[in-house]
Amino acid sequence: MLDIAEDGRTWLLTGPTSSYALHLTGADELLHLHWGPRIALADAEALARDPLPGYWPFESPLDGREEYPVEGGPRFVRPALSVRTEERRGTEWRFVSYDTGREGGDDELRLRFDDDGIAITLHHRMRGDVVERWVSVDNGGHARVELLRADAATWTLPDREGWRLSQLHGRWAAESRLTTVPLTYGEKVIGSRRGHTGHQHLPWVALDTDAAEERGEVYACALGWSGSWRIAVAQLPDARVQITGGAGYDDSGLLLLQPGESYTTPVFAGLWSDGGFGGASRAWHAYQRAYVVPDAERDRPVLFNSWEATNFDISEEQQLALARRAAAIGVELFVVDDGWFGARTADRAGLGDWTPNPDRFPHGLKPLADQVHGLGMRFGIWVEPEMVNPDSDLYRAHPDWVQYQPGRRRTELRNQLVLNLAREDVREYLWEQLDTLLSGAPVDYVKWDFNRCFTDAGWPGEPYPQRLWVDHVRGLYALLDRLRAAHPGVAFESCSGGGGRIDLGVLSRTDQVWTSDNTDPLDRLAIQHGFSQLHPARVMAAWVTDSPNTQLNGRVSSLRFRFVSAMAGVLGVGGDLTEWSDEDLAEARRWVDLYKEIRPVVQHGELYRLRPPAGGLSAVQYVRGAQTVVLAWLQAQRYGEPAPALRLRGLDPAASYACRETGQVHRGAVLLHHGLRTGLTGDLDATVLRLQRVG
Ligand code: DGJ
Repeated sequence: MLDIAEDGRTWLLTGPTSSYALHLTGADELLHLHWGPRIALADAEALARDPLPGYWPFESPLDGREEYPVEGGPRFVRPALSVRTEERRGTEWRFVSYDTGREGGDDELRLRFDDDGIAITLHHRMRGDVVERWVSVDNGGHARVELLRADAATWTLPDREGWRLSQLHGRWAAESRLTTVPLTYGEKVIGSRRGHTGHQHLPWVALDTDAAEERGEVYACALGWSGSWRIAVAQLPDARVQITGGAGYDDSGLLLLQPGESYTTPVFAGLWSDGGFGGASRAWHAYQRAYVVPDAERDRPVLFNSWEATNFDISEEQQLALARRAAAIGVELFVVDDGWFGARTADRAGLGDWTPNPDRFPHGLKPLADQVHGLGMRFGIWVEPEMVNPDSDLYRAHPDWVQYQPGRRRTELRNQLVLNLAREDVREYLWEQLDTLLSGAPVDYVKWDFNRCFTDAGWPGEPYPQRLWVDHVRGLYALLDRLRAAHPGVAFESCSGGGGRIDLGVLSRTDQVWTSDNTDPLDRLAIQHGFSQLHPARVMAAWVTDSPNTQLNGRVSSLRFRFVSAMAGVLGVGGDLTEWSDEDLAEARRWVDLYKEIRPVVQHGELYRLRPPAGGLSAVQYVRGAQTVVLAWLQAQRYGEPAPALRLRGLDPAASYACRETGQVHRGAVLLHHGLRTGLTGDLDATVLRLQRVG
């Protein structure tokens, strides 16, 4: 809902539980008024009447109060917008008009400003309790407009003491680790200067003063961009906090706008919740399922992926042997990973040549795809389209298609170089290769990988090569959009050496993401705990792999523990099934059957994190209508300290719930207040408990 004051200078966006308000002063200063619980327009108008503080000359009354601080004039905070023309630097805007629009039933507010022919439009749209913000800048006539920085939004939090910052940091194979620290004066900056979202940080921050998992106010923001990015969180000299973020890490040359050209930032989304971190997560999950992830109402199938089983050493016969076993345990989608194309028998060659390897697949992929379909499964393949090995036909034909700096060494990481997807000819080549691939064999699923960062982001011959940073990502998005439109039955997975490209931007074009290359079931619990702060189980791919996992940390764990860990997301299997015993396969079948039964609750239900993975008992709960599923893991049993009961959430205290596993009927009030015993003992034990409301 969008309310507008009579004078057309105060705006109030309202979601189911929250409101967001802003006001334009007579001097065209755009002030942030409110972000928090629902308020009335009259409340916003009262806030708008508050005079600005009279600090001068060492503090700015605008700092910490503006909706989108631009560079220039009496401001000392980090500018969200920094523009350079031939004449000058900075922005001094004049309000032009506002308009509103409904797109997909949502209210959108557009505020239009002008600075001497540069048009700046601020977009706000409320979706559920998520405020989506983005900005567009048009060069109406200057010879050149250089956008040194154009953040998607600046978020302003209310005056409070003792802000804490939560973030999801990590590295390859250890992504999405949740950490919370007190915010101190000054700035905390996170981001990626790697050309992709990066394993090091999910583009998300959350701020609170005293919230817990299920209570208290939480402000959280997440950026929808799959290239380099930056989010800066500033504790200002007073009790205010501002969070500003957008595409690009450094200030040097984001984009050059020729006359008539424009730039639109990605979306920076924010939400306020008074339901603690759990409430904020559930609001994010609902938002992504409703507005971001394509076909989110559809269940994701149980997949098998060949990577950990066969690595680069693959053949049609061997994949078929795996496929037969995968089908026998109930797998629904069989994915051939790396190694099926070009001269790709190791990571030294073949990237760029997207035709089946003639020794391995003499008749192409179709015979295998047909047999996989004959086994009742869908068929998927792995690709890494943005990359090329120097040892490939593509690179030999087009060495200038990669990102490179003239006269400098081309840095090879994993023996590969990055193609320049900002170039139309490169995109066109990839489109033809991938379209042919998807047309030539019945492919239902594409795992789209990206296995190295940008290091030499040059573009010889291009007058403004810096645009590569943004245009590569736009090129990726355009390619994905075009492939999805041409092959609507094909689902896509975003992967980047595990979780290196997970963000709201890529999720709006992919069906799920590869969470981490770390498939150890215990390590995964911490990764999944962090991931779930922002993203729903419906997109979180998780595989059951071998034990001991010699490719990873060598840990020995039961099939039970591995399955229950992976069942917290989109279940997959990635072990070498040809080495699994008949008993293992029979047990796997039972787990897969159980997963299919609980899948609608896991993939579409509301998540409650009952206990974080901190060494002892951890658990999550999913609730959907009358059904509840609890997944619990005991890492290590201490003598004399039995695992505690789990206090469930989201149940009706007046109702009763029957547990399928124990046959016991529990009263809702008892489950909520006293909890449910899991019966877990020993080390690395796990269980699934299904509860059904019975009255
Ligand atoms: C990295 C991915 O994360 C793995 O799952 C696998 O696909 C390899 N790349 C293949 O090269």
